[in-house]
Amino acid sequence: MGSAPSKQMRGPQDLAEIEERRMEAKQISRRLDEAYMRMRKTDDMFELLVCKHGDLKHGEIRELTIENAKLLLIRDADQYFIVGNKCSHYNAPLRKGSYFNGRLRCPWHGACFNLVTGEIEEYPGIDGIPAFPVKVVKGNVIVDVDRRLLGKAKVIPAMARADKANETIFVIVGGGPAALVAAETLRRKNFRGRVVIFAKEQLPPYDRPKLSKMLDVDADLLLLRDHAHFKKYDIELMLDQEIVNVDTNDRTVTAKTKLMLRYDKLLICTGASPKRLDVPGNNLKNICFLRTPEEANHICATGKDKNLVIVGASFLALEVAAFMGYKARSVTIICRRMYPFENLLGRHIGKLLRQMLVDRGVTFHEASNVEGFEGTDAVHSVSLRNYKKSEALSVPADLVLVAIGTVPNTKCLVHSGIELDDEGFINVDQFMRTSVERVFAAGDCSTFPLSDSGLRAKVQHWAMAHSQGRIAALNMMSSGHLEPLRSVPYFWTTIFGKSIRYAGYCDNFDDVMISGDIENGRWVAFYLKKDDVKAVATMNYDGVTSQFADLQMAGKFTTRADLLYDITKILALYNNIALVEVNYIWAESKLPYSKPTDDTQLCSFARLI
Ligand SMILES: Cc1cc2nc3c(=O)[nH]c(=O)nc-3n(C[C@H](O)[C@H](O)[C@H](O)COP(=O)(O)OP(=O)(O)OC[C@H]3O[C@@H](n4cnc5c(N)ncnc54)[C@H](O)[C@@H]3O)c2cc1C
Ligand code: FES
Repeated sequence: MGSAPSKQMRGPQDLAEIEERRMEAKQISRRLDEAYMRMRKTDDMFELLVCKHGDLKHGEIRELTIENAKLLLIRDADQYFIVGNKCSHYNAPLRKGSYFNGRLRCPWHGACFNLVTGEIEEYPGIDGIPAFPVKVVKGNVIVDVDRRLLGKAKVIPAMARADKANETIFVIVGGGPAALVAAETLRRKNFRGRVVIFAKEQLPPYDRPKLSKMLDVDADLLLLRDHAHFKKYDIELMLDQEIVNVDTNDRTVTAKTKLMLRYDKLLICTGASPKRLDVPGNNLKNICFLRTPEEANHICATGKDKNLVIVGASFLALEVAAFMGYKARSVTIICRRMYPFENLLGRHIGKLLRQMLVDRGVTFHEASNVEGFEGTDAVHSVSLRNYKKSEALSVPADLVLVAIGTVPNTKCLVHSGIELDDEGFINVDQFMRTSVERVFAAGDCSTFPLSDSGLRAKVQHWAMAHSQGRIAALNMMSSGHLEPLRSVPYFWTTIFGKSIRYAGYCDNFDDVMISGDIENGRWVAFYLKKDDVKAVATMNYDGVTSQFADLQMAGKFTTRADLLYDITKILALYNNIALVEVNYIWAESKLPYSKPTDDTQLCSFARLI
């Protein structure tokens, strides 16, 4: 009797089948591994060991690359931070910035970023930068990477939307940076009522400083936010709506179009308009001003191959002269002082600025007053008088730009009871409150007390308008603690690609001390009131202006004696100064006791370095 083959017995056929199955299992396992790997690679979050604790010194900033994204690693005592390496304003390398108290300040125009959250806390700019949580585990510095943030230059802050049940209305009048930052700060801080902006212009807030640096710029490229952004966060942007009356009894604002709205809190940030020149012929055609993209484009188009005369030597005037230098047939600047910015930056720097423009064909008529404009319909010449030589002159002009300063846009407040100063600027306190309850003001239209001295100032700078907009918004929302304005004034100007950066406030300085090489455009100037350094201006010394602003914020002040004798302190405070060659130091003293007795004293700072 034959027996059936045992089930355990495996013939060659079975073995082949088993082998086939094993191969199949292997393939499945490989496919699973690959899928797992793919999943890991597309996973948004991962941890990465970046260095050992102790690899960096305290205060050191080091560049780091994670998946092709350039970042910065910063050590502060036992804490580490990892953030994006570029400023969200104009992409400056933050590596050269100033680190202070958990914040990194941009070397170009002074914006500050919180190193834990990446949020912007001082301006200019409106967005944050990527920031990644870092921990130290058993001596290893480990970062939690969110892949979605890698390579991002800007991070739009998280903002709330309106809640229909919330009937509170905060009205903002004006459509510049102060208005924008105020509106976004309200939403960032979770204000859920209505936010309504009334703006006279037809464009959403835009990058105004670019206008004098690129006159032919397309307005659409300047917008700080697009229409969709305002919609997304329920910020009601009412364009082409000039407010003509503010009634603080009824708590209403009324537009030229008769539109009226009641407010719970009101913020005025109407900015300023160019000052007119009160001389004969000032109504002739082709006498223009610069505040809007339309005006910038007009100057560029009309001034091409024509004789352009600029009245005034403000930063705006010099920037336009630099831009139009090669485009116009001729560019002439008429100014009252001997040198541009002699009063703000001093004689030596004024001379440098003048020379930079003269070298490129710009003509200066200094120490001169405009006496009138001639022409029948359009202007054809400007008559002026040099008051030093008592000489009268006529300069041919096809186009005239008047850039002699600004007046605040506060006409709509004349019946409001809000206190204005003699020139029409709104008086605010350090919390941006006006003299009338529930009404705040910010930006170019206001005058405010400086935090270090209490001195009232009008600081018409781009960055300051942002800061004041933020402080006003925080205090509009608060029912208890009020936030004071502590920002250090900071501005910049750019002529032929070279930037002057200025931080601090020094009205009518007593002395200027300059180190560096003025002729070659690399210097730091310290502005003193008596023996205290109140402001700093720099060219090609990235970082020093930002360090000065941080020192001011920290209440650390530099003195004349420090500059002249205490080189150790100076090097400790301004670490970038040590990196450059310093050849000279001058003084332009108005104080008899500080006038140098010989060159040795003047050069001590330079030689020590
Ligand atoms: C050409 C140019 C270049 C500049 N360059 C620099 C620079 O390089 N660096 C720097 O620091 N600063 C610069 N500034 C200064 C800077 O632009 C201002 O300090 C800043 O714009 C002030 O912001 P703000 O919000 O207070 O006012 P604005 O920007 O003036 O905005 C106010 C807005 O309110 C609107 N408005 C006025 N009245 C009413 C009303 N009744 N109802 C409704 N809306 C109204 C105005 O039309 C305007 O749009 C420059 C200015 C100009 C004009
Ligand atoms: S680029 Fe950083 S503040 Fe302007």
